Amino acid sequence: MEKTIAVIRGDGIGPEIVGEALAILDVIAEKYGHKFTYKEAPMGGNAIDRFGVPLPDESLQTCLAADSVLLGAVGGPKWDSQPSENRPERGLLKLRGGMKLYTNLRPARVFPELAAACPLRPDIAAKGIDFVVVRELIGGVYFGEHKTFDENGEKKAVDVMSYTEHEIRRVARVAFEMARKRRKRVTSVDKANVLDTSRLWRKTVTELAEEYPDVELLHMYVDNAAMQMVRDPSQFDVIVTENLFGDILSDEASQITGSIGMNPSSSMGDGTRGLYEPIHGSAPDIAGQDKANPIATILSVAMMLRNSFGLSAEADDIENAVDAVLKAGYRCGDIARRGEAVIGCKEMGRRIREAL
Ligand code: IPM
Ligand code: MG
Repeated sequence: MEKTIAVIRGDGIGPEIVGEALAILDVIAEKYGHKFTYKEAPMGGNAIDRFGVPLPDESLQTCLAADSVLLGAVGGPKWDSQPSENRPERGLLKLRGGMKLYTNLRPARVFPELAAACPLRPDIAAKGIDFVVVRELIGGVYFGEHKTFDENGEKKAVDVMSYTEHEIRRVARVAFEMARKRRKRVTSVDKANVLDTSRLWRKTVTELAEEYPDVELLHMYVDNAAMQMVRDPSQFDVIVTENLFGDILSDEASQITGSIGMNPSSSMGDGTRGLYEPIHGSAPDIAGQDKANPIATILSVAMMLRNSFGLSAEADDIENAVDAVLKAGYRCGDIARRGEAVIGCKEMGRRIREAL
Protein backbone atom coordinates (compact mmCIF):
# COMPACT_ATOMS: atom_id res chain seq x y z
CA MET A 1 0.00 0.00 0.00
CA GLU A 2 1.22 3.51 -0.81
CA LYS A 3 -0.03 6.40 1.29
CA THR A 4 0.87 10.02 1.72
CA ILE A 5 0.75 11.32 5.29
CA ALA A 6 0.81 15.02 6.09
CA VAL A 7 2.93 15.56 9.21
CA ILE A 8 2.34 18.44 11.61
CA ARG A 9 5.07 18.28 14.22
CA GLY A 10 3.81 21.37 16.04
CA ASP A 11 5.21 22.98 19.18
CA GLY A 12 6.61 21.94 22.55
CA ILE A 13 7.02 18.17 22.78
CA GLY A 14 5.28 17.78 19.39
CA PRO A 15 8.43 17.23 17.29
CA GLU A 16 9.79 14.64 19.74
CA ILE A 17 6.67 12.49 19.93
CA VAL A 18 5.97 12.74 16.19
CA GLY A 19 9.57 11.70 15.47
CA GLU A 20 9.07 8.49 17.45
CA ALA A 21 5.68 7.81 15.84
CA LEU A 22 7.16 8.17 12.32
CA ALA A 23 9.98 5.82 13.26
CA ILE A 24 7.31 3.24 14.18
CA LEU A 25 5.59 3.79 10.82
CA ASP A 26 8.92 3.19 9.08
CA VAL A 27 9.23 -0.17 10.82
CA ILE A 28 5.67 -1.10 9.81
CA ALA A 29 6.36 -0.05 6.19
CA GLU A 30 9.46 -2.23 6.09
CA LYS A 31 7.86 -5.21 7.82
CA TYR A 32 4.67 -5.27 5.71
CA GLY A 33 5.97 -3.86 2.42
CA HIS A 34 4.09 -0.55 2.44
CA LYS A 35 5.30 2.84 1.32
CA PHE A 36 4.47 5.87 3.44
CA THR A 37 5.49 9.29 2.12
CA TYR A 38 5.61 12.11 4.65
CA LYS A 39 4.81 15.71 3.73
CA GLU A 40 5.62 18.37 6.31
CA ALA A 41 2.80 20.81 7.10
CA PRO A 42 3.88 23.54 9.54
CA MET A 43 1.17 24.64 11.97
CA GLY A 44 0.96 26.31 15.38
CA GLY A 45 3.35 28.64 17.13
CA ASN A 46 6.31 27.63 14.97
CA ALA A 47 4.28 28.60 11.89
CA ILE A 48 3.48 31.98 13.46
CA ASP A 49 7.22 32.49 14.01
CA ARG A 50 8.13 31.52 10.45
CA PHE A 51 5.13 32.64 8.36
CA GLY A 52 3.19 35.01 10.61
CA VAL A 53 0.09 32.80 10.71
CA PRO A 54 -0.74 29.60 12.65
CA LEU A 55 -1.95 27.70 9.57
CA PRO A 56 -0.39 28.75 6.26
CA ASP A 57 -2.61 27.98 3.24
CA GLU A 58 0.06 25.68 1.90
CA SER A 59 -0.16 23.53 5.04
CA LEU A 60 -3.92 23.20 4.70
CA GLN A 61 -3.46 22.23 1.03
CA THR A 62 -0.85 19.63 2.00
CA CYS A 63 -3.30 18.12 4.51
CA LEU A 64 -6.19 18.16 2.03
CA ALA A 65 -4.03 16.41 -0.58
CA ALA A 66 -2.79 13.72 1.83
CA ASP A 67 -4.39 10.37 2.67
CA SER A 68 -4.27 11.25 6.37
CA VAL A 69 -2.69 13.69 8.80
CA LEU A 70 -0.55 13.05 11.88
CA LEU A 71 -0.35 15.88 14.41
CA GLY A 72 1.80 16.23 17.53
CA ALA A 73 0.53 19.20 19.52
CA VAL A 74 0.42 22.98 19.13
CA GLY A 75 0.61 26.01 21.41
CA GLY A 76 2.68 27.32 24.29
CA PRO A 77 3.15 30.37 26.54
CA LYS A 78 5.37 32.03 23.93
CA TRP A 79 2.30 32.79 21.79
CA ASP A 80 -0.14 33.68 24.60
CA SER A 81 0.02 37.37 23.70
CA GLN A 82 -1.03 36.77 20.07
CA PRO A 83 -4.41 38.27 19.16
CA SER A 84 -7.09 35.59 19.48
CA GLU A 85 -7.49 35.13 15.71
CA ASN A 86 -3.77 34.41 15.36
CA ARG A 87 -3.21 32.02 18.24
CA PRO A 88 -1.76 28.55 17.56
CA GLU A 89 -5.09 27.01 18.63
CA ARG A 90 -6.83 28.97 15.89
CA GLY A 91 -4.67 27.12 13.37
CA LEU A 92 -5.99 23.83 14.68
CA LEU A 93 -9.60 25.03 14.47
CA LYS A 94 -9.00 26.27 10.90
CA LEU A 95 -7.54 22.91 9.98
CA ARG A 96 -10.49 21.00 11.46
CA GLY A 97 -12.90 23.32 9.67
CA GLY A 98 -10.95 23.31 6.40
CA MET A 99 -10.83 19.50 6.35
CA LYS A 100 -14.52 19.31 7.42
CA LEU A 101 -13.67 17.00 10.31
CA TYR A 102 -16.95 17.01 12.19
CA THR A 103 -16.38 13.97 14.38
CA ASN A 104 -13.75 13.65 17.06
CA LEU A 105 -13.30 10.22 18.63
CA ARG A 106 -11.59 10.00 22.00
CA PRO A 107 -11.49 6.55 23.53
CA ALA A 108 -11.04 6.31 27.29
CA ARG A 109 -9.87 2.99 28.58
CA VAL A 110 -7.63 1.78 31.35
CA PHE A 111 -4.53 -0.13 30.28
CA PRO A 112 -4.47 -3.23 32.52
CA GLU A 113 -0.76 -2.74 33.22
CA LEU A 114 -1.42 0.83 34.38
CA ALA A 115 -4.54 0.20 36.45
CA ALA A 116 -2.75 1.53 39.53
CA ALA A 117 -2.46 4.96 37.83
CA CYS A 118 -6.25 5.33 37.73
CA PRO A 119 -7.10 8.11 40.21
CA LEU A 120 -10.56 6.69 41.01
CA ARG A 121 -11.25 4.47 44.03
CA PRO A 122 -10.29 0.85 43.25
CA ASP A 123 -13.87 -0.41 43.68
CA ILE A 124 -15.06 2.13 41.09
CA ALA A 125 -12.23 1.38 38.66
CA ALA A 126 -12.80 -2.36 39.08
CA LYS A 127 -16.21 -2.05 37.41
CA GLY A 128 -14.36 -1.14 34.22
CA ILE A 129 -13.67 2.02 32.23
CA ASP A 130 -14.04 1.55 28.49
CA PHE A 131 -15.95 4.20 26.61
CA VAL A 132 -15.58 6.59 23.69
CA VAL A 133 -16.38 10.29 23.63
CA VAL A 134 -17.76 11.27 20.22
CA ARG A 135 -17.36 15.03 20.10
CA GLU A 136 -18.87 17.30 17.45
CA LEU A 137 -15.84 19.22 16.21
CA ILE A 138 -16.67 22.02 13.78
CA GLY A 139 -19.86 23.57 15.11
CA GLY A 140 -21.21 25.17 18.25
CA VAL A 141 -19.65 28.05 20.11
CA TYR A 142 -16.15 27.32 18.81
CA PHE A 143 -17.26 28.18 15.28
CA GLY A 144 -19.85 30.87 16.00
CA GLU A 145 -19.20 34.58 15.78
CA HIS A 146 -16.73 35.93 18.36
CA LYS A 147 -16.53 39.62 19.15
CA THR A 148 -15.52 42.09 21.85
CA PHE A 149 -16.88 45.64 21.75
CA ASP A 150 -17.70 48.72 23.82
CA GLU A 151 -21.16 49.06 25.29
CA ASN A 152 -22.36 51.50 27.95
CA GLY A 153 -18.82 52.51 28.80
CA GLU A 154 -17.46 49.01 29.31
CA LYS A 155 -16.26 46.09 27.22
CA LYS A 156 -18.66 43.37 26.25
CA ALA A 157 -17.78 40.02 24.65
CA VAL A 158 -20.07 37.69 22.72
CA ASP A 159 -19.54 34.12 21.44
CA VAL A 160 -22.39 32.62 19.46
CA MET A 161 -23.38 28.97 19.85
CA SER A 162 -25.44 27.54 17.02
CA TYR A 163 -26.30 24.12 15.61
CA THR A 164 -28.31 22.94 12.64
CA GLU A 165 -30.14 19.63 12.49
CA HIS A 166 -27.80 18.18 9.87
CA GLU A 167 -24.74 19.09 11.94
CA ILE A 168 -26.24 17.18 14.87
CA ARG A 169 -27.49 14.24 12.83
CA ARG A 170 -24.21 13.45 11.06
CA VAL A 171 -22.19 13.19 14.27
CA ALA A 172 -24.96 11.36 16.14
CA ARG A 173 -25.03 8.80 13.33
CA VAL A 174 -21.34 8.08 13.90
CA ALA A 175 -22.11 7.49 17.58
CA PHE A 176 -24.96 5.07 16.87
CA GLU A 177 -22.92 3.15 14.30
CA MET A 178 -20.07 2.88 16.75
CA ALA A 179 -22.33 1.74 19.59
CA ARG A 180 -23.59 -1.07 17.34
CA LYS A 181 -20.07 -2.46 17.24
CA ARG A 182 -19.64 -2.04 21.00
CA ARG A 183 -22.01 -2.43 23.96
CA LYS A 184 -24.97 -0.80 22.16
CA ARG A 185 -25.52 2.17 24.43
CA VAL A 186 -25.38 5.85 23.45
CA THR A 187 -25.44 8.55 26.11
CA SER A 188 -26.23 11.90 24.51
CA VAL A 189 -25.00 14.78 26.64
CA ASP A 190 -26.56 18.24 26.50
CA LYS A 191 -27.89 21.10 28.61
CA ALA A 192 -31.47 20.94 27.34
CA ASN A 193 -32.83 22.45 30.56
CA VAL A 194 -31.19 25.77 29.57
CA LEU A 195 -29.99 25.93 25.95
CA ASP A 196 -31.97 25.97 22.70
CA THR A 197 -29.08 24.34 20.85
CA SER A 198 -29.32 21.50 23.38
CA ARG A 199 -33.07 21.14 22.93
CA LEU A 200 -32.55 20.81 19.18
CA TRP A 201 -29.70 18.40 19.87
CA ARG A 202 -31.90 16.18 22.05
CA LYS A 203 -34.82 16.19 19.62
CA THR A 204 -32.63 15.41 16.61
CA VAL A 205 -30.74 12.59 18.36
CA THR A 206 -34.03 11.10 19.61
CA GLU A 207 -35.46 11.08 16.07
CA LEU A 208 -32.35 9.46 14.66
CA ALA A 209 -32.49 6.78 17.35
CA GLU A 210 -35.57 5.32 15.63
CA GLU A 211 -33.22 4.01 12.94
CA TYR A 212 -31.25 2.20 15.64
CA PRO A 213 -33.80 0.20 17.69
CA ASP A 214 -31.01 -2.16 18.77
CA VAL A 215 -29.10 0.67 20.46
CA GLU A 216 -30.17 2.05 23.83
CA LEU A 217 -30.27 5.86 23.95
CA LEU A 218 -29.98 7.83 27.19
CA HIS A 219 -29.93 11.60 27.62
CA MET A 220 -27.88 13.28 30.32
CA TYR A 221 -27.26 16.90 31.27
CA VAL A 222 -23.61 17.83 30.98
CA ASP A 223 -23.17 18.75 34.65
CA ASN A 224 -24.56 15.39 35.68
CA ALA A 225 -22.39 13.64 33.07
CA ALA A 226 -19.27 15.23 34.54
CA MET A 227 -20.29 13.86 37.93
CA GLN A 228 -21.31 10.39 36.70
CA MET A 229 -17.96 10.03 34.97
CA VAL A 230 -16.16 9.97 38.31
CA ARG A 231 -18.99 8.28 40.25
CA ASP A 232 -19.48 5.30 37.92
CA PRO A 233 -17.76 5.48 34.52
CA SER A 234 -18.69 1.86 33.79
CA GLN A 235 -22.19 3.06 32.78
CA PHE A 236 -20.79 4.69 29.63
CA ASP A 237 -20.22 3.02 26.26
CA VAL A 238 -20.51 5.80 23.64
CA ILE A 239 -20.98 9.40 24.72
CA VAL A 240 -22.02 11.86 22.00
CA THR A 241 -21.99 15.58 22.62
CA GLU A 242 -21.46 19.02 21.15
CA ASN A 243 -18.11 20.71 20.70
CA LEU A 244 -17.51 22.59 23.97
CA PHE A 245 -19.01 19.93 26.25
CA GLY A 246 -16.97 17.33 24.39
CA ASP A 247 -13.78 19.30 24.88
CA ILE A 248 -14.31 19.38 28.63
CA LEU A 249 -15.66 15.85 29.10
CA SER A 250 -12.93 14.27 26.96
CA ASP A 251 -10.25 15.79 29.19
CA GLU A 252 -12.03 14.43 32.24
CA ALA A 253 -12.37 11.05 30.51
CA SER A 254 -8.67 10.83 29.70
CA GLN A 255 -7.71 11.84 33.22
CA ILE A 256 -9.82 9.18 34.95
CA THR A 257 -7.96 6.50 33.00
CA GLY A 258 -4.83 7.76 34.71
CA SER A 259 -2.94 7.93 31.48
CA ILE A 260 -3.46 11.11 29.52
CA GLY A 261 -0.06 10.44 27.91
CA MET A 262 -1.46 7.21 26.48
CA ASN A 263 -4.69 8.20 24.74
CA PRO A 264 -4.89 8.66 20.95
CA SER A 265 -7.69 10.43 19.08
CA SER A 266 -9.02 10.73 15.58
CA SER A 267 -10.97 13.46 13.82
CA MET A 268 -12.98 12.42 10.79
CA GLY A 269 -15.25 13.86 8.13
CA ASP A 270 -17.21 12.03 5.46
CA GLY A 271 -14.32 10.19 3.80
CA THR A 272 -11.56 7.97 5.11
CA ARG A 273 -9.03 10.78 5.56
CA GLY A 274 -8.55 11.62 9.22
CA LEU A 275 -6.48 13.78 11.51
CA TYR A 276 -4.80 11.72 14.21
CA GLU A 277 -3.29 13.19 17.32
CA PRO A 278 -2.61 12.44 20.97
CA ILE A 279 -5.20 13.86 23.38
CA HIS A 280 -2.57 15.62 25.48
CA GLY A 281 -1.10 19.05 24.73
CA SER A 282 2.32 20.41 23.85
CA ALA A 283 3.70 20.29 27.44
CA PRO A 284 6.12 23.23 26.97
CA ASP A 285 7.54 22.65 30.48
CA ILE A 286 9.24 19.41 29.39
CA ALA A 287 9.85 20.24 25.70
CA GLY A 288 13.24 19.32 24.28
CA GLN A 289 14.24 17.30 27.34
CA ASP A 290 13.50 13.80 26.04
CA LYS A 291 10.92 13.36 28.82
CA ALA A 292 7.67 13.15 26.85
CA ASN A 293 5.68 9.94 26.54
CA PRO A 294 5.37 9.11 22.79
CA ILE A 295 2.80 6.33 23.33
CA ALA A 296 -0.35 8.39 22.66
CA THR A 297 1.12 9.51 19.33
CA ILE A 298 2.27 6.00 18.48
CA LEU A 299 -1.22 4.69 19.24
CA SER A 300 -2.63 7.50 17.08
CA VAL A 301 -0.64 6.06 14.20
CA ALA A 302 -2.16 2.64 14.92
CA MET A 303 -5.59 4.25 14.85
CA MET A 304 -4.75 5.84 11.46
CA LEU A 305 -3.64 2.53 9.98
CA ARG A 306 -6.82 0.79 11.12
CA ASN A 307 -9.47 3.48 10.59
CA SER A 308 -8.19 5.32 7.52
CA PHE A 309 -6.14 2.70 5.68
CA GLY A 310 -7.91 -0.50 6.75
CA LEU A 311 -4.61 -2.00 7.96
CA SER A 312 -5.89 -3.84 11.04
CA ALA A 313 -3.09 -6.36 11.38
CA GLU A 314 -0.50 -3.58 11.35
CA ALA A 315 -2.49 -1.60 13.92
CA ASP A 316 -2.82 -4.65 16.18
CA ASP A 317 0.90 -5.17 15.81
CA ILE A 318 1.67 -1.67 17.12
CA GLU A 319 -0.83 -1.95 19.98
CA ASN A 320 0.59 -5.34 20.99
CA ALA A 321 4.11 -3.93 20.92
CA VAL A 322 3.05 -1.09 23.24
CA ASP A 323 1.39 -3.60 25.58
CA ALA A 324 4.50 -5.76 25.58
CA VAL A 325 6.75 -2.83 26.50
CA LEU A 326 4.40 -1.79 29.30
CA LYS A 327 4.21 -5.39 30.54
CA ALA A 328 8.00 -5.47 30.62
CA GLY A 329 7.78 -2.56 33.05
CA TYR A 330 9.07 0.35 30.97
CA ARG A 331 7.53 3.70 31.91
CA CYS A 332 7.86 7.33 30.92
CA GLY A 333 7.59 9.89 33.70
CA ASP A 334 3.84 10.53 33.35
CA ILE A 335 2.87 6.90 33.95
CA ALA A 336 5.58 5.84 36.40
CA ARG A 337 4.64 5.17 40.01
CA ARG A 338 6.85 6.25 42.85
CA GLY A 339 10.05 4.24 42.80
CA GLU A 340 9.63 2.93 39.26
CA ALA A 341 12.50 3.48 36.83
CA VAL A 342 11.71 6.12 34.20
CA ILE A 343 12.84 6.07 30.57
CA GLY A 344 12.82 8.92 28.06
CA CYS A 345 10.88 9.53 24.87
CA LYS A 346 13.59 8.13 22.59
CA GLU A 347 14.12 4.99 24.60
CA MET A 348 10.37 4.32 24.80
CA GLY A 349 10.21 4.62 21.00
CA ARG A 350 13.20 2.32 20.58
CA ARG A 351 11.73 -0.33 22.91
CA ILE A 352 8.46 -0.33 21.00
CA ARG A 353 10.31 -0.65 17.69
CA GLU A 354 12.25 -3.58 19.08
CA ALA A 355 9.03 -5.23 20.21
CA LEU A 356 7.78 -4.85 16.63
C1 IPM B 1 -8.54 19.84 22.15
C2 IPM B 1 -7.91 21.15 22.52
C3 IPM B 1 -8.34 22.16 21.49
C4 IPM B 1 -9.85 22.27 21.60
C5 IPM B 1 -7.70 23.53 21.64
C6 IPM B 1 -6.21 23.45 21.56
C7 IPM B 1 -8.25 24.51 20.61
O1 IPM B 1 -8.24 21.50 23.82
O2 IPM B 1 -8.25 19.33 21.06
O3 IPM B 1 -9.32 19.32 22.94
O4 IPM B 1 -10.36 22.91 22.51
O5 IPM B 1 -10.51 21.67 20.75
MG1 MG C 1 -9.31 20.00 24.87
